[in-house]
Amino acid sequence: MNPADPEAAPDPREQELLAAAWQAREAALCSYSRFAVGAAILDGEGRVWTGANVENASYTLGLCAERVALFYALTHGARDIRSVVVVTGAAVPSSPCGACRQILFEFAADATLVAATADSQVLRTTIRALLPHGFDASSLT
Ligand code: THU
Repeated sequence: MNPADPEAAPDPREQELLAAAWQAREAALCSYSRFAVGAAILDGEGRVWTGANVENASYTLGLCAERVALFYALTHGARDIRSVVVVTGAAVPSSPCGACRQILFEFAADATLVAATADSQVLRTTIRALLPHGFDASSLT
């Protein structure tokens, strides 16, 4: 374990979430980067929500898998997010980009974040650990 990452207990459903994320990755629309990403989110009611990255010819408008999955979950009533799982074809686990960290911090700061590779290397931490002193609604007061 990287000392920068706190101990985060594996969710009992982690294997199921990983399988859902790999399945979701199949739907990635990533013709520009060829870097397919899948995400799966577990909410407080035990529901699983998935997403994959979607790219665009106007490159900066693409959306990461984590945000696709999170917005899907939130707009279907999901709350109290427990786990966020991200999978890629990279050689090492890839953790969420800065923009995703900010979005996830607002809705899932204390969720477990699991990033995994195809050969089962796993980074397991929390969203809060990925964005220390993050900006959220309380910062606006
Ligand atoms: N991407 C994600 O979907 N999630 C990440 O955590 C990092 C990057 C996407 C964005 C873009 O479609 C492709 O991966 C290459 O950056």
